[in-house]
Amino acid sequence: MGKKVSESEVHSEIIVLPGDTNMFGDLYGGRLVEWMDNIGSITAFKHSRMKVVTGSIDNLFFLSPIKLGYIVHLHSFVTFTTRSTMEIEIDVSSENVTTGTTNVTTRAFFTYVALDENGHAVEIPQLIPENDAEKAKFNEGKLRSEHRLQLLNDIKNGLK
Ligand SMILES: CC(C)(COP(=O)(O)OP(=O)(O)OC[C@H]1O[C@@H](n2cnc3c(N)ncnc32)[C@H](O)[C@@H]1OP(=O)(O)O)[C@@H](O)C(=O)NCCC(=O)NCCS
Repeated sequence: MGKKVSESEVHSEIIVLPGDTNMFGDLYGGRLVEWMDNIGSITAFKHSRMKVVTGSIDNLFFLSPIKLGYIVHLHSFVTFTTRSTMEIEIDVSSENVTTGTTNVTTRAFFTYVALDENGHAVEIPQLIPENDAEKAKFNEGKLRSEHRLQLLNDIKNGLK
């Protein structure tokens, strides 16, 4: 049985506090990645309803800094699935609370692997893209998945 993108899509917002920033008042990149992994794992749980682990993170670029006191918007949704993995796109933007101005900050693709109780990769519901935008993302995700698998094999072979 398959699942639709909308069944596991998550939106969340968080405000940047002093403990989240460096001495210049900018959000730590590592803290943002933690928030992204958190929302991405919620999407992965909702899609698979299994234990999941983060397998890889692709294309993580920080395009603009986020300041202390700004609101961070995170949007997470499944773009592509294989037998046991989910590629999840996470889009991040920031909002100045006084002006309401928003800036696109980051977009990245997190891949989660679903595991059974013995830690073995397990079959998950396959994604059902419904509209043209979801179908386009699905096709792009398939290409990234093939590239990712190639990279993973190269890394594994290089470590032997
Ligand atoms: C991810 C992990 C479970 C894969 O284990 P494995 O024994 O290599 O699993 P398999 O070879 O059976 O691969 C299972 C699937 O995951 C994919 N996969 C494996 N490692 C992956 C990785 N690092 N990134 C993306 N996909 C991965 C495989 O291509 C395969 O896909 P498919 O069967 O759906 O087509 C294992 O490498 C692991 O536990 N890594 C550490 C995860 C972790 O600690 N994350 C951070 C904290 S959550």
